[in-house]
Amino acid sequence: MGSRVLLVGMGGREHAVAWKLRQSPLIDEIFIAPGNAGTSLLGTNLPVQPKDIEGLVQTAREHRIDFYLATMDDPQPLGLVDRLQAEGILCYGPSQAAARLESSKAWAKQFMVDRHIPTAIAESFTTYSDARKYVESIPEQKLWVKASGLAAGKGAIGCNDLAEALNALDIVMVRRDFGSAGDTVVIEQDMPGWETSTHAFCDGKTARLMPPSTDYKRAQDGDIGLNTGGVGAYSPSRRVDDALTERIMREIVEPIMQGMRDIGAPYNGTLYPGIMVTADGPKVVEVNARLGDPETQVLMPRLQSDLFEVCKAAAEGRLDEVEVRWSDDVAVGVVMASGGYPATYKLAYRIDGLDDVDPDVLVFHNGTKDDARGLVTNGGRVLTVVALAPTLEAARKKAYDNVGRITFADAQYRRDIALR
Ligand code: GLY
Repeated sequence: MGSRVLLVGMGGREHAVAWKLRQSPLIDEIFIAPGNAGTSLLGTNLPVQPKDIEGLVQTAREHRIDFYLATMDDPQPLGLVDRLQAEGILCYGPSQAAARLESSKAWAKQFMVDRHIPTAIAESFTTYSDARKYVESIPEQKLWVKASGLAAGKGAIGCNDLAEALNALDIVMVRRDFGSAGDTVVIEQDMPGWETSTHAFCDGKTARLMPPSTDYKRAQDGDIGLNTGGVGAYSPSRRVDDALTERIMREIVEPIMQGMRDIGAPYNGTLYPGIMVTADGPKVVEVNARLGDPETQVLMPRLQSDLFEVCKAAAEGRLDEVEVRWSDDVAVGVVMASGGYPATYKLAYRIDGLDDVDPDVLVFHNGTKDDARGLVTNGGRVLTVVALAPTLEAARKKAYDNVGRITFADAQYRRDIALR
């Protein structure tokens, strides 16, 4: 008998994971809470929200779930893995204690400093007046003002000068735009360099790196405009060579794994440190305790191994026993978003053209639902269109050719994904 797997989330990342799991002969059924119109084609969507831990535990019981695969950030800091494990359900995902790596940036920063893991110089504050004094003491410094808690990927504000830093502090600590996530603020010195996303399967002791991917966070071409959750990605990243990969593993991923073991919170699940490659080598921008979106949409199509087999082995602490194989093809993913994203945008526009997409191009749904008119937009990010090809240029061209066949009112997307 095959497994009955639960995913929690509603984005392109969950659609891509469900798509990959569907190929496993080891799985009977996939349940996605709450899912979207794309995931409903691959499994059963369940009307439970990611922060409703009681509801998720109850629904796992009702549907006789025997495996939980963590993809998004919200449920783990609230203890979902601990609760499901107590029900006898095998989990690939961090415990509440291990998920602090992402749920408290202040905690994660101290953890990295204590273990000499390279990261930006930073200070944490719980009062506005202390934070303001600190900012005013380094007026020439470019800074990042970050809400310490989870803020749906929007809690980090880049500041070019003192006025911007004071405004960011106002947004986080006075206006409280991110609610209690901004009770503590982490103020980081900007690190010049270029970014890459590292993902690793982890089983508490062993970490196996996925190929490097590059995510595009700004809303507009040329890396300008507002910060978003990510509006495009490609893999493998052009500039990440074997020597850099080896350093990221030795200086960042392995010390994080060792440190978490040392404090009695071994890290199981996908570890995703965002990395800035500086003149002094790779440094951690932030640690995420989950998969990235849209990075997952370009990683899953390149994974040749059975995702379920890998995650099950990790959940059982025997990741060292499985081989994880990847295709040499390049994957390029372009996110089609609602006009105005990430600020204000309208929902419920009809989506057309999906039937015209090439059969080998993947369209993962980020924010969609079905209504009486058919498929409609239901989020800031709507679709991720992913193409694979032997070269970056060919994958890029194919992705954009297909994006051009999909229409919905006010659609916006960057034209320069994977160009630089
Ligand atoms: N793509 C960025 C993130 O998932 O946090």
